[in-house]
Amino acid sequence: MAEHFLNLIGEEWAPARSGETFEDRNPARWSELLGAFPRSGPEDMDAAVKTARAAYRVWRATPPPRRGEIVLRAGLLLEERKEELARTMTREMGKVVEEARGDVQEAIDMAFFAAGLGRRPFGEAIPSELPDKFCFTWREPVGVVGIITPWNFPVAVPSWKLFPALMAGNAIVFKPAEDSPLCGQRLVEVLLEAGLPPGVLNLVQGTGEEAGAALVAHPDVSCISFTGSTEVGRQIATECGRSLKRVGLELGGKNAIVVMDDADLELAVDGAVWAAFGTTGQRCTAASRMIVQRGVAADFVDALKQRAEGLRVGDGLQEGVQVGPIVNERQLRRVHGYTAVAREERATVLTGGEVLGEGPLGEGWFYSPTIFTDVRPEMRVAREEIFGPSTSVLVADSLEQALEYANSTIYGLSLSIYTNDVRRAFTAMRELEAGIVYVNAPTIGAEIQLPFGGVKQTGNGHREAGSTAMDEFTEWKSIYVDYSGRLQRAQIDT
Ligand code: UN1
Repeated sequence: MAEHFLNLIGEEWAPARSGETFEDRNPARWSELLGAFPRSGPEDMDAAVKTARAAYRVWRATPPPRRGEIVLRAGLLLEERKEELARTMTREMGKVVEEARGDVQEAIDMAFFAAGLGRRPFGEAIPSELPDKFCFTWREPVGVVGIITPWNFPVAVPSWKLFPALMAGNAIVFKPAEDSPLCGQRLVEVLLEAGLPPGVLNLVQGTGEEAGAALVAHPDVSCISFTGSTEVGRQIATECGRSLKRVGLELGGKNAIVVMDDADLELAVDGAVWAAFGTTGQRCTAASRMIVQRGVAADFVDALKQRAEGLRVGDGLQEGVQVGPIVNERQLRRVHGYTAVAREERATVLTGGEVLGEGPLGEGWFYSPTIFTDVRPEMRVAREEIFGPSTSVLVADSLEQALEYANSTIYGLSLSIYTNDVRRAFTAMRELEAGIVYVNAPTIGAEIQLPFGGVKQTGNGHREAGSTAMDEFTEWKSIYVDYSGRLQRAQIDT
């Protein structure tokens, strides 16, 4: 029988009001059930938001350095449980265990970083234009924050949101992706064990359409922080626009690696393999386009093909496996659908393009690492996010054309250039339309002490982590104290 997991509302672990559940299964071994989770709806959300509202009053009055001690302890607990949590992650969403460890490590890094924010300035003192008047600013929490996160970084991405939002003094209702509810629960358990008071963090499981939508629509939620698809982000932004709710969005990407003819080709191929096929291409930062200068295109493609064909696909808990499964059947169909699109558009499927359903792989959602060549920038496979182990190679004649191709999508998360020419490197840093640019490194692998986010339709201008970590979760207040004892009129009594 499946273990039944519950929602956490205040101090109480409870099933969904409807009594309904959904299943959590291992994408590498679909018969393996990790558990059943509450399929929550508006009533569950309402209870969670009310509880969070009440806890908010106490939490916002807790001094930030005290909040930091709790977040720090959470980081230490994550460190202790890193291996266990990584293995749970691999079973739950499929990424190979070495990468799952990296995912947990990213949350540990974020905890240590965020904890320190409690002893950093929360504002600034600014001179007044009038005598005997003191002006300053401080950051205030926004209230109840609704956090909706994806399955592909089921511990790291929630940590970018949860830890800074808590440090800022907000109360939270957290809805993890329905493909990774257990990782979400484990992260919540760690924070509770670290000493977070009840009600400050509430966990409500369920689908985006039901639980997520109810959270977004709730009038007492002050802010929604969402990472996921551009399509869903657009719906959330529309709903938040209606109620003028604050919203932070981290959405899709169509990231590219530009390879110039002067680049270290071996280094570029190493980066391309890692960024295109690491995490089975299921990163918002994955490189799903390679834009290669004509002179080195043939050599680059040969090497990439050879490396892709040598990758071991399988259960991420098995030694030596480099590419895990796709998260679920729907995503597998979607990824495979793009191979059909590539063929229709007359691109070449150079390698891969197959559902791997035979033998030991028959039980999971496996797909072969796929490379499309003869791709033109206007083709769908060069413009749309695939979110799987499929990458397109485009050939460019010059730096200008390569940069133009790189910028030719609606997205702008992560772009990279391989070159040894400092002029080309600096031109690319300036011209590439992305929130993150790499030189001689692949498009994946952002570190938490730098802002993370994208331009264009990758988001709505917010950045997570880094020096910007708390921006999404705080309001600025400007405060003027006049100690002159008389009316002083700004702009007039100068
Ligand atoms: C994501 O894919 O949603 O830069 C996040 C990276 C990771 C984070 C990816 N540190 O690839």
